[in-house]
Amino acid sequence: AMAAERGPAMVTCTAPVNIAVIKYWGKRDTDLILPINSSLSVTLHQDQLKTTTTAAASRDFTEDRLWLNGKEADVGHPRVQACLREVRRLARKRRGGGEDTAALSLSYKIHIASENNFPTAAGLASSAAGYACLVSALARLYGLEEELSEVARRGSGSACRSMFGGFVQWQRGERPDGSDSLALQVAPETHWPELRVLVLVVSGEKKPVGSTAGMQTSVETSPLLKHRAEVVVPQRLAQMMQHIQDRDFEGFGQLAMRDSNQFHATCLDTFPPIFYLTDVSRHIIALAHRYNAHHGHTKVAYTFDAGPNAVIFAPADAVAEFVEVVRRSFPPAANGDQFVRGLPVGPAALPQELVAAVVTEPVPGAVQYILHTKPGPGPQLVDDPSQHLLGADGLP
Ligand code: DP6
Repeated sequence: AMAAERGPAMVTCTAPVNIAVIKYWGKRDTDLILPINSSLSVTLHQDQLKTTTTAAASRDFTEDRLWLNGKEADVGHPRVQACLREVRRLARKRRGGGEDTAALSLSYKIHIASENNFPTAAGLASSAAGYACLVSALARLYGLEEELSEVARRGSGSACRSMFGGFVQWQRGERPDGSDSLALQVAPETHWPELRVLVLVVSGEKKPVGSTAGMQTSVETSPLLKHRAEVVVPQRLAQMMQHIQDRDFEGFGQLAMRDSNQFHATCLDTFPPIFYLTDVSRHIIALAHRYNAHHGHTKVAYTFDAGPNAVIFAPADAVAEFVEVVRRSFPPAANGDQFVRGLPVGPAALPQELVAAVVTEPVPGAVQYILHTKPGPGPQLVDDPSQHLLGADGLP
């Protein structure tokens, strides 16, 4: 039994980042985090982007505590509390009041340590991976086996989609209590093996308005957002599922670009308006369209969340050439050797007519680096105890 053991009970999990191709923007219930429309995303591989979280419980802990990237943080944050409360509630329900001696006592305080293998400053959606990881680690600690996207959703809406690998839908649901607002896997990461993802991390600038505040203003003021949620998204969601099923990059890419653009249009339609795209973002958009026009079909597709970084989808055989086009269009400032990170990218010689048609307005230093990745699996349990982020004393 737990009480006889030395040291805290401890579990470590990792969880992925996801990028939406049909965007979530707007809540119908801000407390339960219920969206006004369904959304669909691609889970990115944890070899390149992941959160790692250790959750520990012990009779010796005197209070719940939380560390983020090595620094103690506020465990009283309402969204952290909502996740904790929901996991404990499920654990209690599961035990049905009966005394299960093998199970961890629900009265024990917990310590949580979480870190990202990527810079938070890169503006990549860290809250989705963060809450998915928190919920996965807590669930394992309490021995829960049920599907927990509904709990991750209480941390951050987009976090529910990080509970699965591959291609994931967050269905908006109809019920006021949110019990049908959950994530479902549309296809596993193995479904589309040629699909690659390039994250173009642009230089400078922090996002002006967080997504939580931004989307609420949009709900209150944007008639375009209302039309989008009621009319546009239901049609697009069905189309996008079909494109994924068919591995149709032309259809997938076109729709991903259109949906990103409409999301940013709803931001402009918000009053006062919100701007997440920058001049560099717009340069990348124009570059992608010139590149596709030159080839006469969709070779690359961009999407942007609530920030200026571009996420590019491309079939594997288009990556080397497009990366070279980006390098020529945004010549790296000093030593360009770390310009491409993640999965290896082969060399590419650009035909002169492609350079002439596509690389029209170079902006030196505007893209900091490119991260090359691909679709990947959902949250993972880490078996190796040396990977725990907390020591036997329960501290980082
Ligand atoms: C633009 O999930 O960060 O990335 O639910 O308030 O935590 P909260 O918002 P969040 O919003 C993400 C918005 C988006 C689009 C998307 O991921 O679907």
